[in-house]
Formats: sequence, C-alpha cells, structure tokens
Amino acid sequence: MSTTLIEQTVGFVKQSMSANDSGHNWFHIERVWKTARTIALGEQVNLLVVELAALLHDIADSKFHNGDETIGPRMANEWLLQQHVPADIREHVVNIVAHISFKGGNQADTFFSPELAVVRDADRLDAIGALGIARAFHYGGFKNREIYDPAIQPDLQMSREDYKKNTAPTINHFYEKLLLLKDRMHTETGKQMAIQRHLFMEQFLEQFYQEWEGKR
Ligand code: ADP
Ligand code: NI
Repeated sequence: MSTTLIEQTVGFVKQSMSANDSGHNWFHIERVWKTARTIALGEQVNLLVVELAALLHDIADSKFHNGDETIGPRMANEWLLQQHVPADIREHVVNIVAHISFKGGNQADTFFSPELAVVRDADRLDAIGALGIARAFHYGGFKNREIYDPAIQPDLQMSREDYKKNTAPTINHFYEKLLLLKDRMHTETGKQMAIQRHLFMEQFLEQFYQEWEGKR
C-alpha cells in the first residue's frame, strides 16, 4: 500500500513541479528524498512520514504564489486526503511541509518532530556543498545578481522582509545563509554530511578570492 502511495506521490509531485524554477525542480525533490532516506537510517522515525514530507516539501513555492506560504501545506493536505492517508500521518506531513523552510530572520519554531528534523536536514544539505554552490549561482543568475562585489558586505542582521528583497551578490549568500547551515543540522548523519559539504564551500571560496586577485 505504501509503495503505491509513494509512487503516486512521485507522479503527482513531478507533474506539479514542472512549472517551477530549476533550483526547485523535480531533481531537487529527488535529491532531498534520497538524502532523507539516508539520514533516516540512523534515526528512529516513521519512514512513510519522512518520504511523503520530502516529496511534498516544495510542492508550491510561495515565491511563485505572491508570497502565499499556506498554499504548499494546503496542496499537500488535499493530496493526502484524496489518497485516504490516515489522518495522523497526513497531519504530521502537512506540519512538516508548513515548517520546514528557513526564510532568514529568527522566528521561533512552533512545530518540531524527529521526522521534520530528517527532512529539514536533507533540504539544507542540498543548499550546501557542490550542489549548493551550483544552485546559489543559478539562482543569482536567474535574479540577475552579480557574482561578487567586494564593496558590498554580507548582512548578517537581515529581517525576514530584508532577506526576501535582498539584491546582494551571490557570494554574500554564502555568509548570510549557506555557511551557517552546518551548525543548524539536527541529526547526527546530517551533521556529518554537512561538515564535508561545508569544507568544500570553504575551499571554493578560498580559491575564488585567489583567482579574483589574479594570484597563482
Ligand atoms: P529553500 O526552499 O531550500 O528554503 P530557497 O527557495 O530560499 O530555499 O532557495 C532555493 C535555492 O536558491 C537554494 O539553494 C538557495 O541557497 C538559493 N538561494 C536562495 N536565495 C539566494 C540568494 N539570495 N542568493 C543565491 N542563492 C540563493
Ligand atoms: Ni527544498
């Protein structure tokens, strides 16, 4: 029963993500799903909740719905209702979808569970390391941002609103978000995976500045 539910959900997600930007396309979902399964091996969690939440976590990006942050959880809820998923599982998955995101600023978390921890770690891991670097510059290009401008310092005190309308160069995003994620991992496996990906970003930045200065 679960296998077909997962397969059905894969189909639903693939079809509803097709209009999204390529930083959040099906491949992002697939990576988060795989990573979440890897992390779940070391945790005591309900794997069905983890897999469904990983698959549904970006079902509707608020950026493409006039900032409406309720549309994703609502779509997830409707899908799970339609699939006759037991209410406790459905509510748990919807809660994860509603609370997974890091949108900058320091808002207190109102919901937490071990399953949320697994999916959030998996989502954060996809924002760091080689893939994180690729996604950041892709996003920056999409937003027509500079790669780097030494005159524009990273802003670590941004409010949620500032974070959303920030237009700084992409390198700043490393200091404002990507390099902070390593210390925000919840699970043991997530922490270990983050350390390696973090080191890779540090090496990338070091090399970047060397090249920027024309050093050999
Ligand atoms: P999420 O849905 O994982 O919370 P976002 O929608 O904020 O992430 O971002 C999607 C991808 O785009 C991530 O890899 C993120 O690092 C990147 N990104 C978001 N904001 C910026 C930015 N200001 N500069 C560069 N990359 C960004
Ligand atoms: Ni995501």
